[in-house]
Amino acid sequence: MTDTVSSLLAEIADVGTDPQRGGYTRPVYSGAELDLRSWFVAHAQKRGLDVETDRNGIIWAWHGGVGDGAVVTGSHLDSVPGGGAYDGPLGVASALVAFDQLGVRGVAGRRAIAVFPEEEGARFGVACLGSRLLTGAIDPDRARSLTDTDGVTFAEAARRNGLDPAHLGPDAETLARIGTFVELHVEQGRGLVDLERPVAVASSILGHGRWRIAVSGEGNHAGTTLMADRRDPMVAAALLVAEVRRLARAVPDARATVGRLVPVPGGTNVIASRVDLWLDVRHPDDAVTRRLVDEVGRAARGLATEEGCTAEMTEESFSSTVDFDPRLRDRLADVLDAAPRLGTGAGHDAGVLKDHVPTAMLFVRNPTGVSHAPAEQVEDADAEIGAAALADSLETLLRR
Ligand code: GLV
Ligand code: MN
Ligand code: MN
Ligand code: MN
Repeated sequence: MTDTVSSLLAEIADVGTDPQRGGYTRPVYSGAELDLRSWFVAHAQKRGLDVETDRNGIIWAWHGGVGDGAVVTGSHLDSVPGGGAYDGPLGVASALVAFDQLGVRGVAGRRAIAVFPEEEGARFGVACLGSRLLTGAIDPDRARSLTDTDGVTFAEAARRNGLDPAHLGPDAETLARIGTFVELHVEQGRGLVDLERPVAVASSILGHGRWRIAVSGEGNHAGTTLMADRRDPMVAAALLVAEVRRLARAVPDARATVGRLVPVPGGTNVIASRVDLWLDVRHPDDAVTRRLVDEVGRAARGLATEEGCTAEMTEESFSSTVDFDPRLRDRLADVLDAAPRLGTGAGHDAGVLKDHVPTAMLFVRNPTGVSHAPAEQVEDADAEIGAAALADSLETLLRR
């Protein structure tokens, strides 16, 4: 039987389900993500593709031999905690189906499917870690030292998965093999629903970054410490979350989120000694993002002081706004029946690769408009339309 995107996704529907959060939790190099990587490798090998894993843990599946200037598509298989079924896997399953269609059409030419590790940054904190390492956008020493919540470093996780941590980092030879990169992804908003179209070509990615704010106070007893005597970082953190929203609302087109907040030590009858919270800020103008983050930093220090606490902010990652190559974008939009162009607020490996190789993205309609949550959705018919659009895009690029 011929695989369809829906049949492929059905095969992995039970991998990494999260009964507590709902949806899927598939952190990079967890059992679930490794199962998905094996699933992909089996499908690639079944198709006679040559599979290799590079020094940064990116899986490459080659048709037409390994070599420079290939047309490459692909995405990722890791997820956020409690994520949807499509963010990442849709692009990988669509790549397999698109390659099948290119075979049926008799299209020749060197091409590959790439699967990138840690696109979400859900385990080690920095998103698009595989593509950042490949392109040199992150210092390998820093990548090696990134640590998950269990205290496992990225170097150790890489080692456990057969990589040599000493060899993580920029890889010009592998990068040169990508002539053009096209990533297909579920749309993470309602743009296509509103336009009543199944597929769009990406125009831009909002600049975005992550900052850790540590608010420190005095750990103490919930029952014996008078309200007047407390230096409670949770109170400062709570006020700060509301202030982040207020500050962001005052800046047109800004998005600012505190999606993760960890009280230390985290006991019901314990006044926390420290609260760590993570700030995600996005805006089309990098200078505006920087200004907003500075304002949040000032607010954090001010609110902490009022509670007898201190606050310290550190940048964990920053990615400038990406405008995709307009010629490539328009060329693909023409091939795809004048597909609409849509920007996105979500980060992608394509956004990292864009500075190094001609890069484009396709988005597939998501009827709920929800992403990074279990309600993320793609209709079966749209998934197949998306794979055909990817095949059309790759065919155009392969025929040049
Ligand atoms: C990744 O999906 C991100 O945009 O944070
Ligand atoms: Mn995502
Ligand atoms: Mn994604
Ligand atoms: Mn993403």
